[in-house]
Amino acid sequence: MNKTIGIGVTGGIAAYKIADLVSLLKKEGFEVIVMMTKAATKFITPLTLETLSGREVITDMWEEYSDFNVPHIDVAKEIDLLVIAPATANFIAKMACGIADDFLSTLFVANIAPVLIAPAMNTKMYENAIVQNNLAKLRDYGCNIIAPATGHLACNDIGKGRLPEVEDIFNEIKQILLLKKDLKGKTVMVNAGTTCEDIDPVRFIANRSSGKMGYCIAEEAIKRGANVILVSGKTTIDPPEGAKYIPVWSADEMCEVMQKYQADCDVIVGAAAVGDFKIADVAGQKLKKADQETDKLILELVGNPDILKALGQNKANKQVMVGFAAETNDIVENAKKKLETKNLDFIVANDVTQEGAGFGTDTNIVTLISRNGSIKSLPLMSKEGVAAAILDKVVDIITDL
Ligand code: PMT
Repeated sequence: MNKTIGIGVTGGIAAYKIADLVSLLKKEGFEVIVMMTKAATKFITPLTLETLSGREVITDMWEEYSDFNVPHIDVAKEIDLLVIAPATANFIAKMACGIADDFLSTLFVANIAPVLIAPAMNTKMYENAIVQNNLAKLRDYGCNIIAPATGHLACNDIGKGRLPEVEDIFNEIKQILLLKKDLKGKTVMVNAGTTCEDIDPVRFIANRSSGKMGYCIAEEAIKRGANVILVSGKTTIDPPEGAKYIPVWSADEMCEVMQKYQADCDVIVGAAAVGDFKIADVAGQKLKKADQETDKLILELVGNPDILKALGQNKANKQVMVGFAAETNDIVENAKKKLETKNLDFIVANDVTQEGAGFGTDTNIVTLISRNGSIKSLPLMSKEGVAAAILDKVVDIITDL
């Protein structure tokens, strides 16, 4: 399940920056519900944020909204995190006192999700003892507060009070969501990168996998509290801190290691691009140039083990197994076949012909296809974002086991 972020916009000049935040959150696969105070609508139109979030923007306690019956209660139930950005001195005071006199302040009182507050105002206002006391009070109530940045302010003063960069707010959001540690105590084994098949002592067959996708999954699982075993084919990336890192060369070697650790694992993710073939007879000496007459060198290939299929045959009842499918045509159909034959819980299909998807990129475009028939296509996302979406789904499955 993807996370839903409630964004409460209050009436400060930095309100226009929230358009970028909403865009970024959507790009990373979050659902976003925007709520605005009356003053905020003076700085940016609800229509802008409605278009970017793809959902109704709530501005009025008394208006009817088609998505919600009792909006302040329904929104409170739906969101996983409430972000108040920019938070004005006035709104901070209302939150600190529990005043509920418009939609956003009423929602704040009804909300049980974690809260992130991003104050933004003139330096003198920010430093005012009343504002600081109100922020301290909110911190004591468990709210997270991201400090304003220092720099040139809209009023031409220079000092502390700017809304932090959108990327910094976004990172803070991810950190807070990840504080959940929803894979704590679980062991997750991930394979990544390309396997290599020797031709002779100096040459080998490999593919274009950089290992990024698998490494992002390993890193994300560590952040969520899992013990991670990263079985890595050839890559140039440093392994994430905290993983049990097992570098391997060939598909045979990768298979052997993964079979060895299978019984210890709650979750197995196959993100590696495993070579389907290896050389039948690896030459003991460096091969000479091709035959002078024919100008050919013929290599005989034989099949490699299908690692996930082998693991799928020994899958324990409560073990969650996830595979990838790198496809160029009939994506869903082909991926479904792999899901079946490898006995997976779900498969992550990437159309590797699409720009921004598949091998070597920092982004991916994937469709999550479940054993129960559900299909969810995600937009272009960073590989970190895809990793988070995959592990969200793993956590959902574990919870239902
Ligand atoms: O590493 P990056 O540059 O970030 O690129 C990411 C990626 C494109 C490699 C990744 O997103 C991906 O799609 N990985 C799987 C590539 C692949 O081998 O796909 P496949 O459709 O051939 O295999 C299906 C599944 O079976 C995969 O989970 C694969 O790991 C597994 N497999 C395949 C062959 C084999 N002999 N043994 C296997 O376990």
